[in-house]
Amino acid sequence: MFGEYFSRSGMTAAISMAKELGVRKLAVPSAGNAAGALAAYAARAGMEAHIFMPKDTPRANVVECEQTGAHVTPMDGLITDCGAEVARRKDAEGWFDVSTLKEPYRVEGKKTLGYELGEQLDWQLPDVIIYPTGGGTGLIGMWKAFDEMQQLGWIGSHRPRMVTVQATGCAPIVRAFERGERFAAEFENAHTTASGLRVPKAVGDFLILDAIRASSGTAVAVSDEELLAATREIGAAEGVFCAPEGGACLPALRMLMAAGKVGRDERVVLFNTGAGVKYMESFGG
Ligand SMILES: Cc1ncc(COP(=O)(O)O)c(C=O)c1O
Repeated sequence: MFGEYFSRSGMTAAISMAKELGVRKLAVPSAGNAAGALAAYAARAGMEAHIFMPKDTPRANVVECEQTGAHVTPMDGLITDCGAEVARRKDAEGWFDVSTLKEPYRVEGKKTLGYELGEQLDWQLPDVIIYPTGGGTGLIGMWKAFDEMQQLGWIGSHRPRMVTVQATGCAPIVRAFERGERFAAEFENAHTTASGLRVPKAVGDFLILDAIRASSGTAVAVSDEELLAATREIGAAEGVFCAPEGGACLPALRMLMAAGKVGRDERVVLFNTGAGVKYMESFGG
């Protein structure tokens, strides 16, 4: 399992490159953790950070950004509406847009997930990776890292089956996968307490779907009730208070095992992408 520095792995690369290339003002739409990472790195780099978040983003994410010097604008609507606001204002304001996959370096940073997975598993990649997918940077980054690792001679041609898990209230990738489509249409009335998964339209939808299919993987959706119950179950069993997004992986694994798509003897990695303590609202706090 990985901690929430998962979001940081993308932003550390993106902000470092932006700094090197002379950018002074950054803007991002974010469901939460990417914003916190942007704010922190922008502070360290002496850059301005302008963050647009849905009004119902977990409070901890908002406070974290404010306390690290970012300008935070809460917005009615979803991350897609926040992205549209950044796009509308960025030229006049002189902001560089760090939205998911609108610049190249966040994905480069996310390759760390793949490299560390290889390192921690002694360069024997698992049979299956279950990954809570929103904008898809983690899955796309990992998939890219595996090819590089093979070129470096660190691993062979074996690839894990990549599994996307989303929430039933916002499952555009699952729907497109099931329909055999290469692009995922916007998911209407998107809602889930797992805020990182509340991405109704992903810019890199086809990259996610290509990776899932090329790996013979799949995509499944689980309900908010299931993912919250699993968060508690993981906490009690492992002593890890994972984010609701991470919790989603466990019911997904159970569904796949029940459907005979994952065998009992297979090596499976579930990704925890965040810290549960930031989601008090989800847990009734
Ligand atoms: C905790 C958490 N999990 C998962 C995701 C989805 O990440 P990705 O863009 O890699 O699909 C996010 C994105 O904000 C997140 O904050």
